[in-house]
Amino acid sequence: MVVAREYPGLFITLEGGDGVGKTTQSEILRDRIEAAGRRTLTTLEPGGTELGLSIRELLLHGQHVSPRAEALLYAADRAHHIATVVRPALAAGTVVIQDRYLDSSIAYQGAGRDLQPDEIRDLSLWATNSLLPDITILLDAPTAVAAARVAFEKGAPDRLEAEKDDFHDRVRAKYRELAAAEPERWVVIDATRPIDVVATQIAEYVLPRVNQRPSAPE
Ligand code: TYD
Repeated sequence: MVVAREYPGLFITLEGGDGVGKTTQSEILRDRIEAAGRRTLTTLEPGGTELGLSIRELLLHGQHVSPRAEALLYAADRAHHIATVVRPALAAGTVVIQDRYLDSSIAYQGAGRDLQPDEIRDLSLWATNSLLPDITILLDAPTAVAAARVAFEKGAPDRLEAEKDDFHDRVRAKYRELAAAEPERWVVIDATRPIDVVATQIAEYVLPRVNQRPSAPE
């Protein structure tokens, strides 16, 4: 169920496999939205709060985590982050640009780990009291391209990045399926193009929508 928007802000999420450039693009988008005169907040999951940083460490750099425990930990990080950071910002009229949200759980835990994607979605909706993004940007790239970037940029992969290619292929396929099923929320961008080309495509989609939202009083 899509709940009517009850806040003056705008909630934008970036999604995609590991190494598709979400962090770089969220910073460029933030600068462009601020240049248009709107207050922004860039944030991320997992790890957008103090509690979340501890959960992130457990998830990405700890020992083996069983699939259902993994899903619950991502949902716990999300519940706290949305309640204490994102909802207050949206209520204050801020444009929130968030690196990963519930669609990451549907793709990684639902499709990657082979849990039930619908159950994973419901878990996140429960955790967040049914907050869905206004805009979700899928940075789409073949697994091999993204994996090469991860290897080049980051050194040792974390626990999820180290999964085999067929895991990442399932994640990508799920993202594309989610985007196709809900085109009014998603925009799919080819992330194999140069950074500035991708940034321009994102801005051309997002900025008119930001401008449609009334500015909150400063
Ligand atoms: P992130 O910090 O975005 O890594 P990257 O910059 O490499 O994309 O996310 C960390 C990892 O956590 C990433 O491999 C995806 C995974 N993840 C999930 O499996 N489920 C989730 O709900 C979220 C938010 C992330």
